[in-house]
Amino acid sequence: MAMDNLYMQVYGCKRCQLWQGTKHAVPGEGPSNAKVMIVGQNPGAEEDETGRPFVGRAGKYLTKALFEYGIRREDLYITNIVKHTSPKNRKPYPAEVGACLPYLQEQIRLIQPQIIVLLGASAKETPRVAGIKYFEIVHPSAAMRFTKMREKFRKQITELSEQIRQTQQL
Ligand code: URA
Repeated sequence: MAMDNLYMQVYGCKRCQLWQGTKHAVPGEGPSNAKVMIVGQNPGAEEDETGRPFVGRAGKYLTKALFEYGIRREDLYITNIVKHTSPKNRKPYPAEVGACLPYLQEQIRLIQPQIIVLLGASAKETPRVAGIKYFEIVHPSAAMRFTKMREKFRKQITELSEQIRQTQQL
């Protein structure tokens, strides 16, 4: 299944109830040969409005933090485990995660990233694929809110940027 085909399936997806009341599905964005993939939990209100991942406050915070460490958003593939927003941005139920996971698995298979960055709760739910390096980092929305989390987030982004530089030298 090529990426265009996958996007068409996500746009029309009714595997769970979340599509009801949403404006856009948010399949993901970025180059199909990206070395690094970022995975969040599910889209929020601004993502639902635009159909693009991580464009709201947390997304802008993440984009800026990555840029400060020399990582350009345009070089990354960015997506979420669950492709539709949820009522009042609640955490997706396990059944919703389970229904949506095959899309992420297919995206990983198509893109074959060297590094997958898991944000916050997505770390627990994303199946690991052999040969890929996984990086768990604090969710940017937690980093925005709590000083301790912010310090941890910064440290993790520094480590990530070093890891990416090493990967590029291979
Ligand atoms: N938070 C997420 O986990 N994903 C988004 O796309 C936006 C905010």
